[in-house]
Parts: sequence; structure tokens; C-alpha cells
Amino acid sequence: MANSLQAVRGMNDLLPGETALWQSLEATLRTVLAGYGYQEIRLPLVEKTELFARSIGEVTDIVEKEMYTFADRNGDSLTLRPEGTAGCVRACIEHGLLHNQTQRLWYVGPMFRYEKPQKGRYRQFHQVGAEAYGMVGPDIDAELICLSARLWRQLGIRDVTLQINSLGSSAARAAYRERLVAYLTTRHAELDEDSRRRLHTNPLRVLDSKNPAMTAVIAEAPSLLDHLDPDSQDHFAGLRALLDAAGVAYTMNPRLVRGLDYYCKTVFEWVTDTLGAQGTICAGGRYDGLIAQLGGEAVPGVGFALGLERLAAMLAATGYPATEPPPHVYLILAGEVAQRMGLALAERLRDEVAGLRLRMNCGGGSFKAQFRRADSSGARFALVVGDDELAAKTVSIKPLRAAQTAQLTLPEDQAIAYLQAAMQDGQP
Ligand code: HAM
Repeated sequence: MANSLQAVRGMNDLLPGETALWQSLEATLRTVLAGYGYQEIRLPLVEKTELFARSIGEVTDIVEKEMYTFADRNGDSLTLRPEGTAGCVRACIEHGLLHNQTQRLWYVGPMFRYEKPQKGRYRQFHQVGAEAYGMVGPDIDAELICLSARLWRQLGIRDVTLQINSLGSSAARAAYRERLVAYLTTRHAELDEDSRRRLHTNPLRVLDSKNPAMTAVIAEAPSLLDHLDPDSQDHFAGLRALLDAAGVAYTMNPRLVRGLDYYCKTVFEWVTDTLGAQGTICAGGRYDGLIAQLGGEAVPGVGFALGLERLAAMLAATGYPATEPPPHVYLILAGEVAQRMGLALAERLRDEVAGLRLRMNCGGGSFKAQFRRADSSGARFALVVGDDELAAKTVSIKPLRAAQTAQLTLPEDQAIAYLQAAMQDGQP
């Protein structure tokens, strides 16, 4: 396919055969989010670059090397959003949504990161995110986790486990960071290149290394959980008690540090081993300092985002039922006059028969060819309008799926009543 135009690497088309699954997935997500009182917020795809540098953190992978940043015609530095939390906080501050009130918000849409594309990791990918503001206790953390657990149940996903950790307050983390750097320095010879680089920029991320050669160094590192401040300890104990009471199983993972800088206290990830290397389908945590850091009031926040490509891949593997429904009616227009009259009839049928999915034959074709198309469309009925029918102001109806059912010829009004009745009988 030399010289042909292709999509940008890591940015995928979603073809008609795949969209039914996505629509069904999105509908389930909307229903579950509404069940917890979350309201949708729609945010721009592009924000000022500074927003991400100041929230996600200057020395994170995302900001250092994964952002799609460009100067607009005015010379302003803009960035395609790599995630949704920063923009959501920016919008809430800008529109005064956080003053003396709580918020439960959600969003869906594409995010952009210049990562190495592979299965489950793309440069344009889609997240559904949920963010809650103004609630300081672990009850809202636990509710968000219950919400995500309900999503998996509703979607029939079983192979996921929940990992939780607490990062503590920023002061506790700073003290821990010093101890960790001191420890890692004693093991310097065993550190891989990435970890050496991170040692002085973002040492907590060393704990997150997936390199098997680093396993021993990481296993023997001091644990963040032993360095939590009392408030974070209480919060974490409160969260665990709530999850226990709600029957949500979890594992404590003291190495879970997340790749964005804004977190404090609770962090969590839902992981699966059915997707290969990119096994995190949903991740989030608390970010109590972020709103003030971006110029808002000192309001706490907590949330998560899930990756729709990863979820869709899991669902496709479980045979999740999602196909576009076939039309109820295929309208065959035999003859020139019928072709002229067909559009008005099709519109009348759609007006009068609630919920009708009607596909009109366009582009002509012999009667036989049109019948073949009607059959392969999967429609339940072929409706035939030809010269005879037009002269008598009738329509012929041929059931295509029922064995041995003869064609009926009915006046238009009766044909409409027939279709209305057929729509009630529960058959597709
Ligand atoms: P994140 O861990 O960077 O967190 O991303 C959340 C989820 O998005 C991941 O668990 C994964 O399912 C999906 N994801 C991330 N990168 C890619 C990629 N390149 N290709 C496909 N899927 C991907 C955040 O973005 C935070 N904003 C989550 C959050 C919301 N925390 C608090 N509120």
C-alpha cells in the first residue's frame, strides 16, 4: 500500500463491526455512573501545556516524553490532553463548581500519549473517568471502588483484582523519599539505567519497575506503608474497613506508586493477567493537594480512569454480546414509479411505527437483486412496492425469517397496523 494515506501510528480506527460493543460498553458505564449520582462533564481535548506540567508533574514520563505539544498560530504552547483529571480540575475551578459544594463528575473521550504502541497501549486511547470533589473521608474512596467493582460485574468481567496502597501526605512522602534514596544509593550497582535516572528525579517510580533484575532491590526497599503519617494511616484503615464491610476483595500492594505526581493517600489499580503486559484496566486515587496547587480552594479530590480499549479487548475475548441489530424492514422498490414514491412511504412508516428500523433500497437493481439484499440485511420483513401495489395503493409484506409464511398484500394503513403489531411481539 505504498503512497496510500494511513492513520497515524498508535491511533486506531474503530470499524463498524466493533462499534456495537463500544456502544454497549459505554451504555453500561453511563447507567452505573448515574446509579451513583455522577454527572457528565465535557472538556476540551486541548489545554495549555502548563496545566499538565503543573498537575501531572514535570519529571513524570508523561510530561517529559509523551505529550503531543505544539505552538498554536499565536505562539501559545498547547497540548493534546494525556489524561482527564487536570482538565476536569481546571474546569471546576474556572466555573466555581467547588465552592461550598461537593461534585461527582464523569467524562469519556480520547487521550493522547506518545508511547511505544503495542497491544493495549496506544497513542490515542479512550478513557472513562470519574472524579469526586469536596469529600475528605475514605467513604468516597470506597464508593468509587464499589462503583468500579459494579462495572465489572455488570459487564461480566471476572478476571480482575484490586490492588490498593496509600502514598500518605506529601510531607510523609518527602521523608520516605529521602530514606528510599539513601537505600537505593547503597544498591546503586544493582540499579538498571532507568532506575538510576529516576533515583534523583522520581525515586518512588523505581518501586514500580517491571524489570525482573530489579525484583530483589525493590523487595528489600523500606516500605512506604511504614512511613505513613497518622492521618493517612487512619484514612487507609478506614478505607480497608469499608471495603471489607462491602465485601470487595483487594490486595495491598506497597509498591503501587502510580505514574502521576498529584496523588496522596489512597491509590488503587484494577489489574488483569488476561491482556498481556498492559494489564491495568482502571486506576486512580486521591489528590487532595491538586486543586489548591492549580489555583483553586483547598478542596480534596479523588477519582479513577479506565481504559476503554483494554476493557473492550477483555469483553471481546469473553464473547460479550454486542452486534448491531438488523433492520426490521427492507423496503424493495420495483419499478421507476415506485422508486420515486418510496422515500415518502419510508418516512411515513418511520413516523407511524415506533422504533422501526427500516432500510430502503437505494441505488436501484432488479427485483431479484433487491430481494437478495433484503435477505442478507437480516431484516425480518421485506416490504415490496411495485407497479401493481402502487395502482392499488397497497404494500406487500413478505416475512423473511419465519418458515412457510406467505406474502400478504395490504392497504398502506393496514400494513402500518401489521408492522405496529409485529413490533410488539418481542421478536427482533
Ligand atoms: P493512568 O493510570 O495514566 O491514570 O490511566 C488510567 C487508565 O487508562 C490505565 O489504567 C489504562 O487502562 C488506560 N491507559 C493509560 N494509558 C494508555 C495507553 N497508552 N493506551 C491504552 N490505554 C491506556 C490517569 O490517567 C488518571 N487521570 C486517573 C485518575 C483519575 N486518577 C484520579 N482520577
